[in-house]
Amino acid sequence: MPLHPPFGLRRPAYGGDYNPEQWPESTWQEDVRLMREARVNLVSVGIFSWAQIEPEPGVYAFDRLDRVLGLLHDNGIAADLATPTVAPPAWFYRAHPDALPVTREGVRHAFGSRGAICHSNSAYRRAAARITTELAQRYAGHPALALWHVHNEYGAPVAACYCDGCAAHFRHWLAARHGSVEAVNDAWGTAFWGQHYTGLEQIDPPRLTPGVCNPAQQLDYRRFADATMRENFCAERDILHRLAPGIPVTTNFMTALSQCDTVDYWAWGREVDIVTNDHYLITDGRRTHVNLAMTADLTRSVAHGAPWLLLEHSTSAVNWQPRNPAKRPGEMARNSLAHIARGSQGALFFQWRQSRQGAEKFHSAMLPQAGTDSRVWREVVRLGADIAALTPVLDTSTVADVAVVWDWQSWWAQALEGRPSVDHDARERADSFYEALYDRHLTVHFAPPEADLSAYPLVVVPALYLMNRAAADNLRRYVENGGTLVVSYFSGIVDEHDTVHEGPYPGALRDVLGLTVEEFSPLPEGARVRLSGPDGTELSADVWTESVVPRGAETVWHYTDGPVRGGPAVTRHRLGKGTAWYVSTRLAAPALDPVLRAACQDAGLDLRDDLPRDVEVVHRSGEDGTWVFVINHGEEPVDVTLPGPGTDLLGNGRTGSRPTVPAGGVRIVRLDD
Ligand code: GAL
Repeated sequence: MPLHPPFGLRRPAYGGDYNPEQWPESTWQEDVRLMREARVNLVSVGIFSWAQIEPEPGVYAFDRLDRVLGLLHDNGIAADLATPTVAPPAWFYRAHPDALPVTREGVRHAFGSRGAICHSNSAYRRAAARITTELAQRYAGHPALALWHVHNEYGAPVAACYCDGCAAHFRHWLAARHGSVEAVNDAWGTAFWGQHYTGLEQIDPPRLTPGVCNPAQQLDYRRFADATMRENFCAERDILHRLAPGIPVTTNFMTALSQCDTVDYWAWGREVDIVTNDHYLITDGRRTHVNLAMTADLTRSVAHGAPWLLLEHSTSAVNWQPRNPAKRPGEMARNSLAHIARGSQGALFFQWRQSRQGAEKFHSAMLPQAGTDSRVWREVVRLGADIAALTPVLDTSTVADVAVVWDWQSWWAQALEGRPSVDHDARERADSFYEALYDRHLTVHFAPPEADLSAYPLVVVPALYLMNRAAADNLRRYVENGGTLVVSYFSGIVDEHDTVHEGPYPGALRDVLGLTVEEFSPLPEGARVRLSGPDGTELSADVWTESVVPRGAETVWHYTDGPVRGGPAVTRHRLGKGTAWYVSTRLAAPALDPVLRAACQDAGLDLRDDLPRDVEVVHRSGEDGTWVFVINHGEEPVDVTLPGPGTDLLGNGRTGSRPTVPAGGVRIVRLDD
């Protein structure tokens, strides 16, 4: 069984979460008939089925799941079979009420939803191992089994538990990480505010405190909570590997920064056999296709460029936002194909058939409440055929142009209290820099701070506040060897313990940027400052300013008003064979463009000024050639210049080197050799 998606399926994966336990068995026949009509070849089964398959402790009822898997297999549909450990049954919690997680305020959650788990709880860990073992023993050789799906979206809805069991577990974790209570005192700076500990047993989770709780303690607790969930994932994974060798194991990530901030996916990406991801559009007025592209790029990066799979998205509306608009005609296909452009080996949805009961009955599905005489169903069938035609791209990889350095731990640190401005948001910086790169049609690879960046002519560092020495050396080497670096304000300020690097800010980056920052001077809410730069270009910024002192860098834009009027705002520093830019204020994506344009010129990148910003152009390349995905998210048809003529996989035949892509349309062109 091949380890990478689509796991020996002959074409890209297409399907969704299949929860047949909601329906009488008579419905199942219709389900598989319609799945075949839509060309579904992979479904996720059993994610929330623990109560059905273990109705009483140690009593197993696999007959329904046997029939579901048999029916799927008979119809040529493979299963992504889940361990149901995100939803322990009611009987389990009656016996082990302390497996329900406790909030920071000391409130214990109740049964009645899902994902209410204290990951330190030993009864939970034992029960999860037991049900995983039973499933693996029963289905290891099942012909429908293509992939194991452990748990569901670790980190949501509960990021961390603060119970006494977790407190004890945390102390062990601290001992392993720091070695001694004195080392914890040093790392956390407990000399301040009289927080000194004389024994590890005195340390608690960062529960509700009257004032700001020690930030380094909070940061370590986030690391601990993340590591604890990962321990549980690895325990299940190891059982599955042992009992069902050769079947890849995944757990569905939620890499969208707007949807999950609780787990460090750099670490998780190393533990799964293949990366899978769930993505839902957040309709808050921002350009949803940009956030989708960013999530897909981040997912591919977490997979270290290896094939990944979109395991969930929606055919139309979700039901968990305050307002849940339906997708517009064609939007679902654009969404799915954009994920595939950026490396997914198919597209799956939550869920196959729309629920009639429970918490998600107003969430869209592949087979909607409206039935088959509906726009959604017709688009689902059409997309199934289109995705089947993409088989040739399976052996290719997405080509990235530039790198963005991202780090979950640095993000966590910036969200803690006691920072210079509540208006600064590391995720917003990542979003805006990404959006500016997207609008220049540059495909992004995300990299952890210590990764080798030498393959990328341009590297962007949006607000990497927490930066250790190794990361700083890495960036310095990158520039010295000829790279072009763009760094946002509030980068390189503290080490991994949230301790400020010695000397003037930004301690880790002073040399590479050729400057120091004497003082931060964030702006009042809503206030703006103006910048003036080359050829009189004026930019407008907000949130943040600071007193930059050039020490080798040249000033390219300077402040013309605000608290540091006349001072440097955007600088450029030549170092070795490369260049390092610094942006000391918050420029929104359009205002970042002139800066990135100049940096792209330093980096020798093609500026693609000819294309409207809402036209997405992404290349997938392999030994058999190059496929260009062109997705027009705009309202007007666009003529797009390609590197040469080719053939459109979506049935539009031969194309010249300047095909017209209709408004809302997609072209996937295999370039001629
Ligand atoms: C996901 C979850 C699914 C479903 C979906 C709805 O986060 O894994 O089970 O709830 O959201 O959008």
